[in-house]
Amino acid sequence: MLKELGVGIAITGSGSATPTVSLDNQGLSTLVETSDEWISSRTGIKERRLSSVQESLSAIATLAATNALDMAGIAATDVDLIILATSTPDDLFGTACRIQAQLGASKAVAFDMTAACSGFVFGLVTAAQFIRTGVYQNVLVIGADILSRWVDWADRRSCVLFGDGAGAVVMQAHQSDRLLGFEIRSDGTQNNALNLAYQPQPKEIVSGVTIGQGTYQPITMNGKEVYRFAVQKVPEVIEKVLFRANLSIDQVDWLVLHQANQRILDAVGERLNIPAHKVISNIAKYGNTSAASIPLALDEAVREGKIKTGDTIATSGFGAGLTWGAAIFQWGR
Ligand code: UT7
Repeated sequence: MLKELGVGIAITGSGSATPTVSLDNQGLSTLVETSDEWISSRTGIKERRLSSVQESLSAIATLAATNALDMAGIAATDVDLIILATSTPDDLFGTACRIQAQLGASKAVAFDMTAACSGFVFGLVTAAQFIRTGVYQNVLVIGADILSRWVDWADRRSCVLFGDGAGAVVMQAHQSDRLLGFEIRSDGTQNNALNLAYQPQPKEIVSGVTIGQGTYQPITMNGKEVYRFAVQKVPEVIEKVLFRANLSIDQVDWLVLHQANQRILDAVGERLNIPAHKVISNIAKYGNTSAASIPLALDEAVREGKIKTGDTIATSGFGAGLTWGAAIFQWGR
């Protein structure tokens, strides 16, 4: 059906990379008043990876992208477009071009995209438009975040949740269409539920001319509000996309959700009536890695041999904005 409207799309490779330093819940409990018991039972998180001073976003994103290109079996010079979904760029002017250079993807156009923890799904859908219309054939979509740069490490309600990482997929024009449907959404009326906001300070540069020069402030979050939003909107949007794709719930082989909280993964699985063994989870090892979490979970499941060519995957991202979205696709060529 979708194929009749344009070029088919396949997701042919995945890759991921995480920093080497790991901090477990026990370690965190020496920093803030918390415990392994509280973090494990409320979130499912056991440890998270944190980037050192030397580890840049572009470095882990480039490694994830290289792994994805290797799996897809295409050269960096074949890539037409690189979309980097991130909220934590190395450079606010954009980090995608650094990745383009590091990969040697000389003919690719590269840009950053910000949609917080929904960034990977938004990037995938954006990439699909360029392929569907025949403009580009080979696209790299990367989700990468180093939220540890912006976490308030004195706030136990949020610092226990986040970790750093990168994941990537290769999307290609293909005779048969493997992207079965998608939907992306925003609700700015709930914007204050989760923020990493710029705080300007007045600075008079010449007499009578005052500009606002400041910095970004650490993450603030209303956890309960985000939780309620996620368990309501994620099943809703997945059901909508399945309906449009003319698929039933039992045709979904794997649910690959943004890894924010094990309780959210469980609740979404239950609401959709998808058994727990089909719900991919690696949150215990990495925590919430924002835009990286979906491609990181996908890549691990593919490399472990869980996800196989032809399997139907329902994916959904949600987070700051507020933003959310879902995509259904069959893995591989
Ligand atoms: O990508 C999207 C990013 N955001 C999210 O996914 C957040 C979604 N929300 C959540 O995952 C959950 O709301 C949290 C895990 C953040 C919190 O779980 P909760 O069950 O909603 O806990 P709560 O905020 O209601 O806090 C319960 C208690 C509070 O104490 P009192 O007021 O009952 O005495 C908190 O002060 O737990 C306390 N608390 C903690 N205790 C130990 C909050 N954080 C911690 C902590 N360690 N780290």
